[in-house]
Amino acid sequence: MPQIKAINHVAVVVEDMEKSLAFWRDALGIELHELRDVPAEKSQVAFLPLAGAEVELVMPTTDDSGIAKYLAKRGQGMHHLCLEVDDIEAMMVHLKGKNIRLINEEARTAADGKKYAFIHPESSGGVLVELYQI
Ligand code: CO
Repeated sequence: MPQIKAINHVAVVVEDMEKSLAFWRDALGIELHELRDVPAEKSQVAFLPLAGAEVELVMPTTDDSGIAKYLAKRGQGMHHLCLEVDDIEAMMVHLKGKNIRLINEEARTAADGKKYAFIHPESSGGVLVELYQI
């Protein structure tokens, strides 16, 4: 059976990246490792790594993406919890077999080669869960 290995990151949706960095980087003092645009997700993402897991800030860059709609509807705040898994495809098959609703039918590949997919909050008690395979 595929295994969950660790919490990889906690993602926060923000409406203004510089304002958010003024808190997470400047006030809390967490080092900003990377700030990058993710055109496939129509968003800009900041990575602030800590021991074992990182804080990820996500800001939509258009009005029409899923994350933009989420921000418009629910406002800023916690967005998703990301779990690292050893075999994402096997985990997705396993979850489908347990009638867990997935947002992505297939795992997607990020620019850095990581594979990811989201589990629908309907199946997880209201928490958007991302699966990551590094
Ligand atoms: Co994420």
